[in-house]
Formats: sequence, structure tokens, C-alpha cells
Amino acid sequence: MFTDMDENELQKIREKAANALNSAADIGTLETIIGSYLGKEGKLSLVFRSFASLSPETRSVMGIKANEIKRDLTALAEARRQAFVAKNGDDVADWLDVTLPAAKLEIGHIHPLTQTIDRIVGIFHGMGFEVFDGPEIESDWYAFDALNIPKDHPTRDTWDSLFISDKQVLRPHTSPGQIRYMENHQPPLRIILPGRCFRRDAIDASHEINFHHIEGLMVDKDISVANFKAIIEEFFRQYFADSEKDSDRMSCIVRLRPSYFPFTEPSFEVDLGCVLCGQKGCSACKGTGWMEIMGAGMVHPNVFANAGVDASVWQGFAFGMGVERLAMIRHKINDIRLFYDGGTNFLNQF
Ligand code: DAH
Repeated sequence: MFTDMDENELQKIREKAANALNSAADIGTLETIIGSYLGKEGKLSLVFRSFASLSPETRSVMGIKANEIKRDLTALAEARRQAFVAKNGDDVADWLDVTLPAAKLEIGHIHPLTQTIDRIVGIFHGMGFEVFDGPEIESDWYAFDALNIPKDHPTRDTWDSLFISDKQVLRPHTSPGQIRYMENHQPPLRIILPGRCFRRDAIDASHEINFHHIEGLMVDKDISVANFKAIIEEFFRQYFADSEKDSDRMSCIVRLRPSYFPFTEPSFEVDLGCVLCGQKGCSACKGTGWMEIMGAGMVHPNVFANAGVDASVWQGFAFGMGVERLAMIRHKINDIRLFYDGGTNFLNQF
């Protein structure tokens, strides 16, 4: 039978439990305390069990009391739990189902255009070329005049693109870097100039207003077109080989067609024997067996003069190619816009 003392006993349990819940220092201790009072075998459950031996009247009085205590302690326990969770997010981990599969961690990788630039730079590096970087915003002197592109000459239209002031243009090619480099370095020299360029082009599957160029320049005594052809064929051989073993076997042939660029004389278009069909004729080479791939030529004496190099002593060749085009041929990509729209289905293939 419960007596007054028993009611005191109940009150003591309540106080002890409340004190313990309030003083728990971490969520683990709190859970143990909750279990020891409110769990199946907890002190309060034992009290309820002992009610079986009480008279019906006492049982109902004590039952009301005990239920009230249980309700209060449960509310206090929950409030304390929430306080821990709010205070320290890590504790949420205690409430997670650790058997759930973890969220997938996406690991990024290098963009295919950067991979292509790295590959091209690596090959030229192996042939003794140094990388030189020019600014993306150029003065019209470096972008045009110094490269022998006269003010009113119609050829300027090809490059005369995105001016941001009277005298400043978003560079349409990385050729201006030739002048910047030669101003401070006398030959002999071998450089390549990779970088982002901008043109006022209509965007379609093969044109973007923003793209990447790699310019090359080699200046020395007794440099001829033959040196250019040898270097560029070796470059293509390595660029299109899939492995070192392949590169031993594979050869690339190059054809030079007469052309015109203001900064070179003579100038030519460089065609590469189609590496996709072995020159049998396919859609990539439009059935001709040749792919037009870059412009090149022997550096014009006016360009040397503008950069402070004596053209009676030094000769050299220069060339310029599009990074996107080289990446598209190597990876059989049919639309330049894929490089820039950020679609991960495309990017994850590289
Ligand atoms: N700058 C040219 C272009 O934007 C590419 C080029 C052609 C660069 C001939 C050269 C060159 O150095 O000799 O299309």
C-alpha cells in the first residue's frame, strides 16, 4: 500500500530525475538518464508496476500523480534533447540512421579545353618552346599595328572585333604576345602563347565569340619553312597519338597552301592529312582527305622592326591554331558550344 511517504518518494524521484536531466553534460549522458527514469525498466516504470498491489482509490490518486510526473519529465527530456541538437549540429549524427548509404561525393576534374591546352603545351615544351602569356585586353597597337595590320586595310575586319574603348580591344588572337615577348627578349627564341580570345562571330556549331588560341613563334639564324614543317608534323604526330606506343608508329602529313596574313610573308594555310579516315575521305574532312587546321608563315620584317629585332640577322616562323578545333578533332566532338554550356553529361566524358 502506498502511504504519504510513498507520495514523497514519488516527489523525490521527480526532483532527482529533473536535476539529472538538467545537468547532463552531453547527449549521450542525457540518453542514459532518460532510459534510467523513463525507459522500460526505468524507475518510473517500476513505480507504475508497483501500483498493481494498491487499493483502487489509492491507485487512481497515485496514478494521476505518477502520470503527471511522467508527462513533465518526458517534456523536459525532449526539451533537453532539442537543446543539444540546436547547440551542436554534430549531435544530429546520433539521430541519423548510419546504415543509410552516404551521399555521393562528386569529384571534379580538369575541363577538356584545359586538358587540351596542357597537352599541346607539353608537346611544345618537349621541343624547347617556352610559354608566354599576354593580356586579354590589348591596345590596338599590339593587337593590330605592330603586327603589320594597317589602320585602313580591309584585312583588319577579320580581327577588328570587340572594342571596349577607342584604343582597347578584347584580343581576337594571341599573336600580339609575339611583339610583347620580342620587345624584351632577343633571338634565338622559341615560344608558344596559349590563351582566351574573343571575336564578333555569329555563334554556331563551329564558332564561339569566346575561344582559345595557341600562337607559336620560333626565331633564329637560318630558319626556313622546312623547320616549320618538321616541327608541326612532329607536333601533330604526338598530339594525335593515343599512347607513347602509338606515337612511335603514327605519322601525320601536312600540306601548306599559299595564303595571306599581314604578319607573315610568305603565309600559308596548314592542312593536316585527315587523321580520322586516313585520308580516304569522310564527313570530318568533307571528303577531301585534308583538314584545314591553322595559319602560319615566315615572320614579316615589319613585325620584327616593330618589336626591335634586326630582320637582316634573324628569321623565323609563326603559326596560330584554335584549341577548340584541335580538341574537337581528337575527341570527335561535333559542336563547339558543348565546351561552354557546362553540361556535366558532356564534361564527365573527359
Ligand atoms: N592570328 C591568326 C588568326 O587569328 C592565326 C595566325 C596565322 C597566326 C598566321 C600566325 C600566323 O602567327 O603566322 O587566325
